[in-house]
Amino acid sequence: MSTHIKAQPGEIAESVLLPGDPLRAKWIAETFLENATCYNEVRGMLGYTGTFQGKRISVQGTGMGIPSALIYCHELIKDYGVKNLIRVGSAGSYQKNIHLRDIVIAMAASSTSAINNSHFENHNFSPTADFDLFMKAARYAKENDIPIKAGNVLSNDQFYEEGPEDYKKWADYGVLCVEMEAAGLYSIAAKFKVKALTILTISDSLVTGEATTTEERESSFSKMIEIALNTVV
Ligand code: ADE
Repeated sequence: MSTHIKAQPGEIAESVLLPGDPLRAKWIAETFLENATCYNEVRGMLGYTGTFQGKRISVQGTGMGIPSALIYCHELIKDYGVKNLIRVGSAGSYQKNIHLRDIVIAMAASSTSAINNSHFENHNFSPTADFDLFMKAARYAKENDIPIKAGNVLSNDQFYEEGPEDYKKWADYGVLCVEMEAAGLYSIAAKFKVKALTILTISDSLVTGEATTTEERESSFSKMIEIALNTVV
């Protein structure tokens, strides 16, 4: 057992899907996994293990933002031996050609977070996706006619930005969308030599101001979960 996860040794699979919302973890487990059992309820941060196409897979809520996500990633890796971590989350579009419900795979994650700057001082560490996981996800999407976009995303420390135009400096450099955890996940995965990937569904647009409804979010989330599960199966 670890500080924030109350699973017994062996209760968590080698591959874990990581939604920010713990109720999304419950929904993924109940919708996509067979024989799913709940291994964690500490702080309401639900975690489940079940099987997908006969393979054991876990799904663990992480909460919002890098500090919360890193607590769960750290314990999953160090205390439960997790090897493949796939964040499945929502993001806000920074580009005109990235629309609501589009799926974006984060090849790299820029960030406003200080975690790497405080460690590398005046230098820059570039948090990147694991190449094998990225290729598997991209191949599955292509073979199953699921359109994806891939590139650099921003892991922002603030959901509510200071001004409505703040996103433009990132958009000018081709950053596709904004979320709040990928840079932390890719950094901790690099440190502990495990594999990580972030797959995102666009839920709102900083460009147009539009946002998806709850129902729309659910159906577009399903395609993303399908890609994630088939990446680790
Ligand atoms: N997740 C979904 N939309 C977001 C946004 N606009 N900013 C940060 N994270 C998000």
